[in-house]
Amino acid sequence: MYNDIEEVLFTREEIDQKVQDLGKQISEDYGKNNEIIMVGVLKGACVFMADLIRQIDMPVCIDFMAVSSYGYSTESSGIVRILKDLDLEIEGKHVLIVEDIIDTGLTLKYLTDNLRSRNVKSLKICTLLDKPERRKCDLDIDYTGFKIPDKFVVGYGIDYAEKYRNLPYIAVVKG
Ligand code: IMP
Ligand code: MG
Repeated sequence: MYNDIEEVLFTREEIDQKVQDLGKQISEDYGKNNEIIMVGVLKGACVFMADLIRQIDMPVCIDFMAVSSYGYSTESSGIVRILKDLDLEIEGKHVLIVEDIIDTGLTLKYLTDNLRSRNVKSLKICTLLDKPERRKCDLDIDYTGFKIPDKFVVGYGIDYAEKYRNLPYIAVVKG
């Protein structure tokens, strides 16, 4: 059934533990009196976002953006287009971008520049996975779940040609 899967990188339990740790850290850092808007990047971040918000112990609003990045290829074009913008007004708010995986960083570079120009109170990035070897631009990441080597992964929301988002674990695709 899953012919493209080579090996499991992180189990369901390892991911759960990491998401709990991230939620605790984020709640502590912002403090209970603050309110944040968490912005998930569709579609990949939807599973991570759904789990992460339930580990945050403070007032949270959520919103989503959709940007074009890879399409059906596995290489970033560097050209980013907003397909769905925010519904909420973020001016003067603490905004936390939630991403599934940061690769070249070009998508988030564009997104952070764009959101910062809307006069937010603060802007931070939380990513479940990071491939630092692949970075093509400067990007400050505030919260990282796991750093991973330069391998193509799927599962827990992350796809290969729109498939495998439903896997409860994160796995490497055959090269
Ligand atoms: P970047 O602009 O190169 O950082 O691309 C980031 C986006 O590319 C992520 O949000 C993912 O949607 C996608 N991506 C990067 N690496 C992988 C991978 O290993 N598997 C699946 N999608 C990936
Ligand atoms: Mg993504």
